[in-house]
Amino acid sequence: MKLIVANWKSNPSTHAEAIRLAKEIDWKGVVIVPPFIYLEAISDVLKNASLGAQDVSPNDVGPHTGEIAPRQLIDLKVEYVIVGHSERRKAGETDEEIQKELVATLNAGLKAVLCVGESAEVRKNGFEAAKKFVKEQLESVFSGLSQSLKVMSYELYVAYEPIWAIGTGTTDTPESAAEMASFIKQLMVNSYKLSVNVLYGGSLNASNAKSFLSRSEIGGALVGGASLRSDEFKKIVETTQ
Ligand code: PGA
Repeated sequence: MKLIVANWKSNPSTHAEAIRLAKEIDWKGVVIVPPFIYLEAISDVLKNASLGAQDVSPNDVGPHTGEIAPRQLIDLKVEYVIVGHSERRKAGETDEEIQKELVATLNAGLKAVLCVGESAEVRKNGFEAAKKFVKEQLESVFSGLSQSLKVMSYELYVAYEPIWAIGTGTTDTPESAAEMASFIKQLMVNSYKLSVNVLYGGSLNASNAKSFLSRSEIGGALVGGASLRSDEFKKIVETTQ
């Protein structure tokens, strides 16, 4: 079954709207990732969907003002954590911090969705340049990671989200996204002996979802804008059934 992750980002603006939307998209195979402040209330109403967090502190509970520790997420029945979203990277998160967050996530027994993807500037130089960029992003997070992992088994997803496709209405082509997914999977097995599922993200909607999700290389989707409209989101989820 393909995984469809609803990344609400900093939406919606009220608690009541968040609860209404969560109930409307509470389906199996869906991970709802609301802002932190709505996690507890949504956790109480979900019957089928899983719950995710948009970020996590690399630190355990303690004197870290403004941070949310992995064990606090687990207490709210959160199962997934998005790590290294390009909007977090833009806000200043470094590869080093992203590696620490990934380690903290996996060591706590949470499932991680690590985001990678190139900018428009990189892609201008061609698809090979994009692959090289993604390879370097993965290397900076995964080299040396195994020494920090305390757990033997973990669930890891890599979301390929070209930055120029996020929230722009322009997607990558399904062919390139599938090729990038294969490339990432091969790299992860060959270099790190990790088998991962690769999700596609970036302007996915009801009309284009099928062309991506019907590809065997693509294990699911990370959906932003379209996950805030239940009728649109429903059509995306239906393409996987
Ligand atoms: P989008 O966002 O679907 O609105 O392009 C995707 C994401 O940032 O995860």
